[in-house]
Amino acid sequence: MAAEYQTFEHDVLVIGAGGAGLRAAIEASTAGVSVGLVCKSLLGKAHTVMAEGGMAAAMANVDDRDNWKVHFSDTMRGGQYVNNWRMAELHAKEAPDRVRELEAWGAVFDRTKDGRILQRNFGGHKYPRLAHVGDRTGLEMIRTLQDHGIHQGIEVYMEVTVIALLKDGDRVVGAFAYEREHGRFRIFKAKAVILATGGIGRAYKITSNSWEGTGDGHSLAFDAGAELLDMEFIQFHPTGMVYPPSVRGILVTEGVRGEGGILKNSEGRRFMFDDIPANYKDQTSDTPEEGWRYVTGDKNARRPPELLTRDHVARCIVREVKAGRGTPNGGVYLDIAWIKEKISNAPEHIKKKLPSMYHQFKQLADLDITTEPMEVGPTTHYIMGGIRVDADTQASTVAGLFAAGECAAGINGANRLGGNSLSDLLVFGKRAGEYAAKFAQENDFGQINSEQIEQTVKWALEPFEKQTGENPFEIQHELQEMMQDLVGIVRTEDEMQRALIGVRELRKRSKNVKATGNIDFNPSWHTALDLHNLLNVSEAITLAAIERKESRGGQFRDDYPAKDAEFGKVNFTIKKDAGGEMKIERVTILEMPAELKQIIEEMG
Ligand code: FUM
Repeated sequence: MAAEYQTFEHDVLVIGAGGAGLRAAIEASTAGVSVGLVCKSLLGKAHTVMAEGGMAAAMANVDDRDNWKVHFSDTMRGGQYVNNWRMAELHAKEAPDRVRELEAWGAVFDRTKDGRILQRNFGGHKYPRLAHVGDRTGLEMIRTLQDHGIHQGIEVYMEVTVIALLKDGDRVVGAFAYEREHGRFRIFKAKAVILATGGIGRAYKITSNSWEGTGDGHSLAFDAGAELLDMEFIQFHPTGMVYPPSVRGILVTEGVRGEGGILKNSEGRRFMFDDIPANYKDQTSDTPEEGWRYVTGDKNARRPPELLTRDHVARCIVREVKAGRGTPNGGVYLDIAWIKEKISNAPEHIKKKLPSMYHQFKQLADLDITTEPMEVGPTTHYIMGGIRVDADTQASTVAGLFAAGECAAGINGANRLGGNSLSDLLVFGKRAGEYAAKFAQENDFGQINSEQIEQTVKWALEPFEKQTGENPFEIQHELQEMMQDLVGIVRTEDEMQRALIGVRELRKRSKNVKATGNIDFNPSWHTALDLHNLLNVSEAITLAAIERKESRGGQFRDDYPAKDAEFGKVNFTIKKDAGGEMKIERVTILEMPAELKQIIEEMG
């Protein structure tokens, strides 16, 4: 039966072609193994481009006090100390080299006056640390990796969706997929597989993620028996567009605030001054003047409160809107135009620093950000949780399976600092590629199980068998509404229990979905298959969020509004039990080595 499907063989198969997938593919191929790279859409179209403002790396080009220790400490503080400290350490140490390597491969960064890579301020980073290309940094990263990668002999499979990881006993030995264009099934045999599929944003109604962000890697790994970690921690980026409705959720880069943008409510007040958390008081200014001095490079000034961590800023915005101090379209105002009071060439400066934002608002909202404030509100942007991996090798808990980038968990703990994602993709993409290649060199191809393939085909084609059935778009829509309303920025036990019942109910209904039309490019069929992943990640998020009875980073519980020291010592893992159900477990965070503890103490 398996022989009916076209079969491809690679030592290493990388699933997902954003920053992490491309970097992993380059590394594996450099190690001398054959590499296949599967992308759900076209090569170059990845959520990586939505990290606009920059990549965090302690290169100290703008402030010479910066170094890996400060970056490590900032990342741990931002993640509220439930991070995998080894990943945070590796990331902080290796990010500068990865950025310089990207530059050597052709990335054209903005420059300091003396010709070094320019770095800007971002939330939670003590010093200006984000190497950037205007507000198109992720795009430049993808362009550079793509240009570099295509000369490495990597085989690219575009518009191919993986629907199952193939197993030989306990080991992953390949993947089963279909071509989106004509629905043809494909077998990929591989000695090692790397998941780099990005996030889950499409489980929510308001998101910066495009259609691909359906949690495929999370779900594939879970189905294959791997552990998921930290699924309760979702990042709601404080600033997405809120108007017009058709573009709601599209990202407005944090770079706007990094360049001096301020948040105001409908009364014209900078509400971020109202609530500066105790653990950031030492770093945060309490006057607008000091905040502006910080933005313009005064090394003795403290950051404006708009550059507090994303979890906090998003909650402050929600509070203003709930209190009736929001904009007509349910957001708050983000104003960069005000800097004309401070600099003479403000419009040119804004267009130079934030060209994409200028065009985005001009074209989508008919608004000139050099003269008027934007309306913004939180948007589901990123998941800190994902596949549990070994920090050094990126190996998952299943042999032969590796993961990198957003779909892998650990480095960010309860909240990711903006800009850490792009450098994470490079640091851990490279590591995943290296160790997957090593695994491939040490192991043979496994056996493909034709029964697993038959079952997967049967499952995948079921939506065509039905005479009557549910509309997959309707189920997806209901799920997104439910996750947004019941497992969103502010959570309670009661609402999440309702969500859990709701997700399980939708799962039952999803077994009865019907695809209209035939198998050629068929969005209703694609959505019917994506539903499985969306439901898996939604259930995992809800279960973990119920279990963590405290507020920390991306998880805010109205019924447990404080941090609880006991929960600060644990992570939650989710795995399939013998009956195929989700099993949640509490795992104790490994004790941090003394030298890392000391760094954190020294940084205050
Ligand atoms: O706001 C931004 O530019 C997003 C950056 C990130 O998510 O790292």
